[in-house]
Amino acid sequence: MIKGLQMNEVTMYYAEGSNRITALDHVSISVELGEFVAVVGPSGSGKSTFLSIAGALLKASEGNVRLNGNNISTQTEKELSNIRLQEIGFIMQSSNLVPYLNVLDQLLIVKRMSGKIKREDREFATKLLNELGLGSKLKSFPDKLSGGEKQRTAIARALMNNPNIILADEPTASLDTKRAHEVVSLIAQEVKSRQKAAIMVTHDERMLEYCDKVYRMSDGGLSLAES
Ligand SMILES: Nc1ncnc2c1ncn2[C@@H]1O[C@H](COP(=O)(O)OP(=O)(O)O)[C@@H](O)[C@H]1O
Ligand SMILES: [Mg+2]
Repeated sequence: MIKGLQMNEVTMYYAEGSNRITALDHVSISVELGEFVAVVGPSGSGKSTFLSIAGALLKASEGNVRLNGNNISTQTEKELSNIRLQEIGFIMQSSNLVPYLNVLDQLLIVKRMSGKIKREDREFATKLLNELGLGSKLKSFPDKLSGGEKQRTAIARALMNNPNIILADEPTASLDTKRAHEVVSLIAQEVKSRQKAAIMVTHDERMLEYCDKVYRMSDGGLSLAES
């Protein structure tokens, strides 16, 4: 079984009135464990649609998507929600932390969704937060964190279930340059040390130095960019 993400000739149509919009046009890509890939492209080119399909949030109109070897077009809704919880870590534009939970509990709630919290879960959460430079913030609430600290908490949360696939949609959109570099270099470090297959959608050309490959999305078509 091939781990990571494979898309083969994926096309996505949206209906708009009597028209049909082609949001993705025969997109093929393979992202292996340990690989950090960036996708850049103008607004409306299909990046969010691409990430939603990669994350099993949307089903493609045509083509195949494999997540850790599973063809997701043949899975039931229940299986898909399990795959999203166990095999995919999402990092969004804003960190979406729960306001009344401290940093440690932001991670533990992920475990609570799939059962009881064990001692090793607490240890793993603490380890992740230490790696991400948040060792002194375990008991802090989101309103006491900087933008960069919130986004680093969101990275740790995305890793909490130890998924193989990490998907990030503009993770630096709300950060200044210094924090943006910190956050993306930490994602890169986790991708390498924990062997994740990661895709980051970004507008920020300065972040591409951390990625192994850069793809460009244009009118729904995906192509490898020369770097
Ligand atoms: N739910 C939807 N219904 C209809 N059209 C959509 C929907 N979502 C996106 N689109 C259209 O699909 C195209 C790609 O959008 P999107 O994937 O959001 O691009 P990006 O993230 O690069 O801005 C755009 O033309 C957009 O208007
Ligand atoms: Mg978008």
